[in-house]
Amino acid sequence: MKELEKDSAIKWTEKNLPDLSGKTIIITGANSGTGLSATKFMASKGATIIMACRNPQKAKDAMQSIKTENPAAKLDFIHLDLGDLTSAKKFADAFKEKYASLDILINNAGVAQTPDMKTKDGFELQMGINHLGHFALTSYLVEHLANTKNSRIAVVGSMNGEQGKMHFDNLFFEGNYDAMQAYNQSKLATHLFAYELGKRFENAGIGVEVLAANPGFIKTNILKENAYTTRSFGFKLMFGIAEALLAMSPDQGSLPIMRAATDQTLKNGDFVSPMKTGGMRGLPKLVTLTNPDFNDENAKRLWEMSEELTGVKYEI
Ligand SMILES: NC(=O)c1ccc[n+]([C@@H]2O[C@H](COP(=O)([O-])OP(=O)(O)OC[C@H]3O[C@@H](n4cnc5c(N)ncnc54)[C@H](OP(=O)(O)O)[C@@H]3O)[C@@H](O)[C@H]2O)c1
Repeated sequence: MKELEKDSAIKWTEKNLPDLSGKTIIITGANSGTGLSATKFMASKGATIIMACRNPQKAKDAMQSIKTENPAAKLDFIHLDLGDLTSAKKFADAFKEKYASLDILINNAGVAQTPDMKTKDGFELQMGINHLGHFALTSYLVEHLANTKNSRIAVVGSMNGEQGKMHFDNLFFEGNYDAMQAYNQSKLATHLFAYELGKRFENAGIGVEVLAANPGFIKTNILKENAYTTRSFGFKLMFGIAEALLAMSPDQGSLPIMRAATDQTLKNGDFVSPMKTGGMRGLPKLVTLTNPDFNDENAKRLWEMSEELTGVKYEI
């Protein structure tokens, strides 16, 4: 990743969040980690947050934890399992029945370095949840976003997207599964999706902006829930040391996401990330991916493949 010069002096924190009164915001994976922190901060600015979570009890507990600190927080929960395309459609239908507009969609939920597992629709888990589930979900919400003035989508990618390679001939690593490569590919896919969607909106004259964010290296549940359970003692020890030395808090990790979602000095296609220690630490800066697999051809090819796999057709 390369920091863009013009942005080098900016120090963006939650204090830079604008007033969000009257705004409707969906955050996927809002019950934990960076999604929970973003929910807390954005609710404190007056927004109504729809917490799109797969586990109702965890969502309820998360909601309660925010309400204890901020009883006025406007929070709603609608069930969403991104590993099930039917659930993505049901979520969108339930949302649209209740809300007339959508100002910000934050595609934050994710899994990392999982064992070789499949979603309900038969997709490799990381590509299925991190990219294909969000690809389908977003398509169902496009009309609401397009009908809301100054609306935005912020997708949560990763510095791992920089290492990702697109394996179009074997997208799901059938027969040669590698958890890390599959995660890197799924995060590169997230960035390619954001880029292609933003370009398509622009070409169609639709004012929805799409930006990407990398939270950095953040101490959350993401590895503990998945990879951690199957890894050796040595891995856990090394990871524990790296986490203690380098990882930032979920509140810090929510900053690039919230900046991508709200900073009006940024524009369609921009990418926000910390820049210290290879994108792991620091305040959110305007950056660019330097991965050669992040290109127009791959963005278009992934889009077509994603439409085919999910059966979803975008009207743009
Ligand atoms: N932590 C890092 O160092 C790091 C670095 C770069 C990028 N990221 C990205 O940051 C995002 C947030 O992760 P995090 O670190 O905050 O981890 P986290 O604490 O584990 O949060 C992940 C969230 O995603 C939800 N989720 C997982 N599978 C889902 C599904 N099938 N349907 C709906 N929701 C689902 C989880 O729900 P449950 O609680 O029910 O599991 C949880 O709410 C992810 O996209 C991740 O790839 C994280």
